[in-house]
Amino acid sequence: MYTHLQLRGSDRPPVTLSTLAKMKEDGRKIASLTCYDASFAVLLDSADVDVVLVGDSLGMVIQGYDTTVPVTMNDVIYHCRAVARGLHRPFLMADLPFMSYPSKAEALSNSVRLMQEGGAKMIKLESGATQIEIVEFLAAHDIAVCAHLGLKPQSVHKTGGFRVQGRADDAAELMIANAKRLESAGADIVLLECIPSALGKQITEELHVPVIGIGAGPDTDGQILVLYDILDITTGRKPRFVQNFMQGAGSNQEALANYVKAVREVRYPAAEHEF
Ligand code: KIV
Repeated sequence: MYTHLQLRGSDRPPVTLSTLAKMKEDGRKIASLTCYDASFAVLLDSADVDVVLVGDSLGMVIQGYDTTVPVTMNDVIYHCRAVARGLHRPFLMADLPFMSYPSKAEALSNSVRLMQEGGAKMIKLESGATQIEIVEFLAAHDIAVCAHLGLKPQSVHKTGGFRVQGRADDAAELMIANAKRLESAGADIVLLECIPSALGKQITEELHVPVIGIGAGPDTDGQILVLYDILDITTGRKPRFVQNFMQGAGSNQEALANYVKAVREVRYPAAEHEF
């Protein structure tokens, strides 16, 4: 009992929301990655990754679908439970999959499942104006929430493809406004996917909560990438923001350590990864 309290004095205390808030305040970059199983979770932990996401990208990289739409709650819980067993230090976040949060009640009961059955500490949901009330409701029930803005893969059939978001002035203004409204509603982290670097910078500066980016430029408070992309396991054309960290590394462990170092030293993302 109280293992985490006992470990606070150790040199590797578990990452919490307070740790992440302090990192933003101090200007120290947050290094995050997705993960789907216990063996990689152990490697991510020893590479000192700060935040681990059991993303619904598992539908594409594990299950072989073209999109994240077919992923179910049971799929995310299965993988989250495995990842949780391999982690000690990183903060564990899990995705609410497609259509698992159409109402406040469903969002709450599925978030509780991710936490109680999956071992997640925070849930992430793809967000816009429609999700503000849901975020407020989850926050009022003491659920830690990450609001995902920008490219939202669960909406890909409606929006017409995996495309950079927020390029036009009105779309950028709307994203800034929604990010602020989601923060006021109680989001503890904002995640920005595939947007111009200047917009990533502006949102990061305007929010008090940590902002983690994927293809959102070098100025967000942290970076996240899909594990299989940085280990060069994913085949086919990769997004512009992906860097293959196996290049020059002798092992997966070394590649992961190089990624964490590159994020902390603001060497990743470089100019060629930006929109
Ligand atoms: O599911 C996922 O892997 C994600 C990342 C792209 C951030 O949401």
